[in-house]
Amino acid sequence: MFKSLAGILSNDLAIDLGTANTLVYARNKGLVCSEPSVVAVASDSRGRGERVLAVGSEAKAMLGRTPSGIRAVRPIKDGVIADFEVTEAMLRYFIQKAHNRSKLVRPRMVICVPPEITSVEKRAVRESALSAGAREVFLVEEPMAAAIGAGLDVTAPTGNMVVDVGGGTTDVAVISLSGIVTSSSIRCGGDKMDEAIIQYVRRKYNVLIGERTAEDVKITIGTASPHGKTQTMEIKGRDLVAGIPKTVMATSEEIHEALVEPIGAIVESVHMTLEKTPPELAADIVDRGIVLVGGGSLLRDLDVVLRDRTGLPIMRSDDPFTAVVYGAGKALDDLELLREVSFE
Ligand SMILES: Nc1ncnc2c1ncn2[C@@H]1O[C@H](COP(=O)(O)OP(=O)(O)OP(=O)(O)O)[C@@H](O)[C@H]1O
Ligand SMILES: [Mg+2]
Repeated sequence: MFKSLAGILSNDLAIDLGTANTLVYARNKGLVCSEPSVVAVASDSRGRGERVLAVGSEAKAMLGRTPSGIRAVRPIKDGVIADFEVTEAMLRYFIQKAHNRSKLVRPRMVICVPPEITSVEKRAVRESALSAGAREVFLVEEPMAAAIGAGLDVTAPTGNMVVDVGGGTTDVAVISLSGIVTSSSIRCGGDKMDEAIIQYVRRKYNVLIGERTAEDVKITIGTASPHGKTQTMEIKGRDLVAGIPKTVMATSEEIHEALVEPIGAIVESVHMTLEKTPPELAADIVDRGIVLVGGGSLLRDLDVVLRDRTGLPIMRSDDPFTAVVYGAGKALDDLELLREVSFE
C-alpha cells in the first residue's frame, strides 16, 4: 500500500547519462529532458572555485567559442566520467529540471551505465544521484536498456544482439534470459568519427576545423559506404598556412575516406563479439538479426556496410537516440523486470 502510494506521489526517473546526450524519462510523464551532456563553468574572479554558467544546448553552443575564464566541458569522455564534479552538477541540474519539486516523496531512479564501468565510477554515479535527491538507485547496463527500449524480449531464452553506436563508445552485446552473455565495448563512436574528419581536412587541405563543424559535416554528408550518391558541402575553418579563415568544398567520398578507420573498428568489434557468442545464441542471431541503436547508427549506409560484412539482417531502431532511456523507463514501470536487469 505504502509503496504504491509512493509511486503515485513521486516522479520516478530513468536517466541515460551519455557522452553526447543526457535523456531523462519520468514515470507517468514520458521523456522530460533531452539535452547535450555539456556544462559551461566560469572560474570565480577571485580564484575561488568555479560556478556553473549553463548546461545542455546552451552550453553546447559555447563549445570551442569560450573566452578565458569560461570552460565549456563535456564531463563524460569515451563513455566514462572524466570530470566527477561537473558530471554531478550536470546530473543535479537535469534531475531538478525533470523532477517536480512539489511531489512529496523522493524519486526512485534508474541510471543507465556503460557495461564496462568500474566500481569507483558506479559509486560516483550512485552517490551523485542520491545527493541529487534519489531515495533508491538502480543501475542498468546501457545495452540491456537499449534492447528493452527496442522492444526485444530480454527475458526469453533467445539470443538478441544489440549494437549501440554512441558518441563515446560502441557497445555490442548479446542478451538472453535477462543477462548480457557476451559483450564488447570500444572507445570509438561518433566523437572518433568527428576527430577523423578533423584530421583528414587538416592533412588534405591544411585547414583546421572545430569539433562542431566536423560533426555537422559527418551528419550532412558522412557515409560508411563509398557507393552512395555523391554529395558536397562547404567546410569553413582556419587556413594553417595563411592563418586566415578559409572555405573548402568537400565531397562525401572524401568524408567516407576519412571515416574508414572508425567504421572498420565498429565492424571489427561486431565480428569479435559474434566469434565469442555461444553457438545456440549465434543461431538465434542469424534468424533475428542485429538491432542498431545510438545516434552514431544514423550515419548513412552504416547498416548496409554491416549487412555486407556480417551477412546478417540489420534492423535500425525507430528512434536510436531514445531506445536506452525508454528501455530504462519500461523497467521503472515493471519492478520485477527492474530487479532482474539491474545490479548493485
Ligand atoms: N545523422 C547522424 N549521422 C551520424 N551521426 C550522428 C547523426 N546524428 C547524431 N549523430 C551522432 O550520434 C552521437 C550521439 O549519439 P548518442 O546520443 O546515442 O550518444 P550517447 O548516448 O550520448 O553516447 P554514449 O552512449 O557513447 O555515452 C554523436 O556523435 C552525434 O554526432
Ligand atoms: Mg548512449
